Amino acid sequence: MIHPHSELRFINDAIGYGLFATRPIPKGTVTWVGDSLDQIITPEKLALLPETLKYQVHRYSYLNGRADRILCWDHGRFVNHSCAASCLSPGFNFEIAVRDIALGEEITDDYGTLNLEEPFACLCGAPGCRGQVLPDDPLHLSAEWDRQISGAFPQIHRVEQPLWELVEEKAEIARVLAGEIPVPSVFTHYRAVLTA
Ligand SMILES: C[S@@+](CC[C@H](N)C(=O)[O-])C[C@H]1O[C@@H](n2cnc3c(N)ncnc32)[C@H](O)[C@@H]1O
Ligand SMILES: [Zn+2]
Repeated sequence: MIHPHSELRFINDAIGYGLFATRPIPKGTVTWVGDSLDQIITPEKLALLPETLKYQVHRYSYLNGRADRILCWDHGRFVNHSCAASCLSPGFNFEIAVRDIALGEEITDDYGTLNLEEPFACLCGAPGCRGQVLPDDPLHLSAEWDRQISGAFPQIHRVEQPLWELVEEKAEIARVLAGEIPVPSVFTHYRAVLTA
């Protein structure tokens, strides 16, 4: 489920729609969490879908690293990629804001974390835009993503969390915040790790 303080807006013909903050969202806020209404589409189920639905699944779902596609039931499926993403997923089933998101700012993540099957041409326009987002980006970028997530993680218990009820890994989060275990790496979701 996507953070409630967000709305869908049309950006342009090339990118389509995106999600924008309707209130400031502070760093450390859970901005998206996987929930029980999301569809899990196995490779077998995908193969049986008509082409029209296959297109929708490829456009709006992400691969969870176990070859299943997760299709979010709400506006969470409209989160666009940015090479300077405002949200990233630690090795948990949720994303957090890695910096303060201003009112009206787009809520983005990094498709490089989502087990891309092929290169993705990026039009994000961020300074330092990678131009192409690549399936093996985690090999080069996980350390930087983990650095940003670790910087935001301690804020989790200090900011308003409208999605907290849906977060399943509360015990692990408490252990991270207590310094007992490290923040799980973005790499936890990487399919090459999970299928090895
Ligand atoms: C999960 S959908 C996001 C919602 C999409 N903008 C829409 O309106 O349907 C993913 C698609 O959005 C577009 N998109 C997202 N981020 C983009 C980016 N940084 N550059 C270019 N296209 C992007 C691509 O067409 C991509 O396949
Ligand atoms: Zn980019």
